[in-house]
Amino acid sequence: MADPQAINSVLTESRVFPPPEEFSRRAHIRSMQDYQRLWDEADKDPQKYWGDRAREELYWKEPFKTVLEWKPPHARWFIEGRTNLSYNCLDRHLPKLADKPAILFEGEPGDRRSVTYGELSKQVNRLANGLKSLGVKKGDRVGIYLPMVPEAAVAMLACARLGAVHSVVFGGFSAEALQERMKDMGAKVLLTADGGWRKGAVVPLMKNVEAALPNAPSIEKVVVLTRTGDGKLPDGPKFMAWDALVKDQSDTCEPEWVESEHPLFILYTSGSTGKPKGVLHTTAGYAMNASLTTRWVFDLREDDIYWCTADVGWVTGHTYVVYGPLMNGITTVLYEGAPTQPGPDRFWDIIERYKATILYTAPTAIRAFMRLGDGPVKQHDLSSLRLLGSVGEPINPEAWMWYRDVIGGGRCPVVDTWWQTETGSIMISPLPGATPTKPGSATLPLPGIHAEILDRDGNRVPKGQGGLLFVTKPWPSMLRTVYGDPERYVNTYFSELPGMYFTGDGARTDPDGYLWLMGRVDDVVNVAGHRLGTAEVESALVSHPKVSEAAVVGRPDDLKGTALVAFVTLKQGNAPSDALKKELATHVGKEIGAIARPDDIRFAEGLPKTRSGKIMRRLLRDVAAGKTSTQDTTTLEDLNVLATLRQNDE
Ligand code: WTA
Repeated sequence: MADPQAINSVLTESRVFPPPEEFSRRAHIRSMQDYQRLWDEADKDPQKYWGDRAREELYWKEPFKTVLEWKPPHARWFIEGRTNLSYNCLDRHLPKLADKPAILFEGEPGDRRSVTYGELSKQVNRLANGLKSLGVKKGDRVGIYLPMVPEAAVAMLACARLGAVHSVVFGGFSAEALQERMKDMGAKVLLTADGGWRKGAVVPLMKNVEAALPNAPSIEKVVVLTRTGDGKLPDGPKFMAWDALVKDQSDTCEPEWVESEHPLFILYTSGSTGKPKGVLHTTAGYAMNASLTTRWVFDLREDDIYWCTADVGWVTGHTYVVYGPLMNGITTVLYEGAPTQPGPDRFWDIIERYKATILYTAPTAIRAFMRLGDGPVKQHDLSSLRLLGSVGEPINPEAWMWYRDVIGGGRCPVVDTWWQTETGSIMISPLPGATPTKPGSATLPLPGIHAEILDRDGNRVPKGQGGLLFVTKPWPSMLRTVYGDPERYVNTYFSELPGMYFTGDGARTDPDGYLWLMGRVDDVVNVAGHRLGTAEVESALVSHPKVSEAAVVGRPDDLKGTALVAFVTLKQGNAPSDALKKELATHVGKEIGAIARPDDIRFAEGLPKTRSGKIMRRLLRDVAAGKTSTQDTTTLEDLNVLATLRQNDE
């Protein structure tokens, strides 16, 4: 949702930070000339460019013969090649890196574990063999509903080893949301835990699984990791302990050599309509971009201690906690819990203790830390840091500057990385040794990525003007389809302008050609860095027996980026009350998860509609933002007057 205030603040932004010389000297890509050369190479001969990259990044059991077959909007990359992603993350490193930590884990209660590449490989193979013993084969779908523990990465890699398709469901999602996803993908096995730690309390994963199971009939087995409890399993033949499954398994398991386009994972994400979409990614193209972008954007060095704070339940966790870092053989930090547990300095304490060199987190977290003041940061020595990354939503210049100066001590480049679940990997970002950065701009597309700002007719908008962000040519890690709904793939992403990928984001360029992302132009909102569909929240609200109609819109929020405001009309016989507001918020939490609870619920006697019956969302957005009316209860009359004034405007 483009926020005019944000647009004004970025348009007046004139600070430019060239890469520190010392940083550039050692970087993978050291100058804008290098960037431009790669860009031109990719532009001139994409087949050669991507083909070369794929040969460099991946181990191929069988080489591919064709780089790309593009029948818009369907792409197939690296045809006839065979590889295996777990082999690329593990086996090929073992001769040199068996004793190097792959994962430095820290649980919220303070328990710690270092898992070497050698140990990780054994755990993955044992679990892969265990899954095989449960009948899991190439192409089967496996659900993963785990806290942020090393076993989450083990689970993903074990699936990849067998050619099984994983689908991670964020641990903060409710039983309802879990069940919906398991049913849609037809999961055969679910890998979960009794619970996870968050803000000093246990997230009741097992209880949610028990509630979801009766409505997810495809699930034959639930494998339960003991994390928070005493290891006691729920009754019933479907439940099995993780330890029991892997205990007697061999720690070698021949990888399944899958074709490049074999599905790797499904990740559900929010769209403009009620039901989340199962975004499907395939193996080789995804892996190649994951590996390449991690190395280039974070300018990886062998001895980096890299920390991406995203949960594995989101795409950032897939690409930049698990696959990208492991393909590059570096050490990655995995932290289970909340950023301010037990105190406001937990993140900085982790960075100091592990001597983390790279931090990749979300603007919403940065803004929350900013509010806490510099004190908690100053208690710690953060001099190990050399690079900072941001992702998930537009970062306001003020937060960018605080991140750079207070966290990065003014010496670390900041990379603001734009991408999406659908793009699989970073698309627009500075290359820290080359690109001069500007606070609030994701700068320029990576080589080979044709991110362009167009109007609805497909014309390029002049520099300085706003428009819609498209990717006009295919790229290897693009989504291949919406699982089980191929039409939705075409309609959602390729119907705005045929053959061109529509991102759903608005953006503008400045006179230097830098890109400034302005937020979603559809009914998707980024709330505290979590992507949600307003329609999803609406359908959760109307499933409550007292609700007649609901419209949910975003409102700019200093902390969360966007906050959710719900306008609700009640069925006859029900009166608005604070108690009912609470009841409705709890209901949404149960239907989707706590992250979707509206920040503000307003009762209305009716919702403003156009003559053709469409809810006037733009008007509601203005009301929510306090631009038109600030009353707590908005009457139909108020809204109707506004609606009449606006009829021609929607
Ligand atoms: C937003 C997260 C501005 C954008 C990787 C996109 C951003 C949506 C940025 C995807 C950024 C992500 N600047 N906006 N650097 N990064 N977004 O699928 O609106 O959870 O469409 O993927 O987040 O969210 P998703």
